[in-house]
Amino acid sequence: MTLHVVASLDGFIARKDNSVSWLDAPGSVYEAGVSVSEEEIAAFVKAIDCYVLGSRTYEHALELGWPYGDTPTVVLTNRELSSTKKSVEFYSGDLTTLVREKLAPRYRDIWLVGGAIASQRFLSLGLVDEIKLTVAPVLLGDGLRLFGDSEAETRWTLKSVAAYRNGFVELSYAATK
Ligand SMILES: NC(=O)c1ccc[n+]([C@@H]2O[C@H](COP(=O)([O-])OP(=O)(O)OC[C@H]3O[C@@H](n4cnc5c(N)ncnc54)[C@H](OP(=O)(O)O)[C@@H]3O)[C@@H](O)[C@H]2O)c1
Repeated sequence: MTLHVVASLDGFIARKDNSVSWLDAPGSVYEAGVSVSEEEIAAFVKAIDCYVLGSRTYEHALELGWPYGDTPTVVLTNRELSSTKKSVEFYSGDLTTLVREKLAPRYRDIWLVGGAIASQRFLSLGLVDEIKLTVAPVLLGDGLRLFGDSEAETRWTLKSVAAYRNGFVELSYAATK
């Protein structure tokens, strides 16, 4: 399972009021960075077989405009949420069972896309194989922390770094075996 999140330079994934408008704010240009076309993004996203997200990220995504298309999406919740999309399935319970027994046999490229609570749970259970952390060129000062406290120190191996023209940097790490 791949964890993908975008964080500010000071390690926040959303402002306190949940807003993520800072992600789209026009910024400086890094001339040596790569630019990615809409077609390239579409081809990349098409390769994702399944998304997993916490209920708060789900509710926020519905408000902002659903970014996950028709790709199968599992939303973690202990509440009875109304289903607005055919591609969405709700899940409550053991996360190891979800990943190992339900998702892994069906999907190859599984993306955990937040938020902080959901990410922390999967990380602490050792269910994340890869972290793709995109760092945005902004200090927010306050907000929702990328990762919470954890009892365990875990090591990660840097696999690739990509710097984009918009000043965002994507760091890809694999879990060190
Ligand atoms: N910058 C980024 O890349 C990025 C990415 C994702 C999200 N975000 C932002 O982060 C915020 C949301 O993050 P968050 O940390 O507050 O919440 P979250 O992780 O999206 O959702 C937390 C909720 O997930 C459910 N959950 C977690 N583990 C569960 C389990 N084992 N079984 C059943 N349900 C489980 C619970 O839902 P119930 O309370 O319904 O039971 C829990 O309250 C939003 O503002 C969003 O826009 C930013």
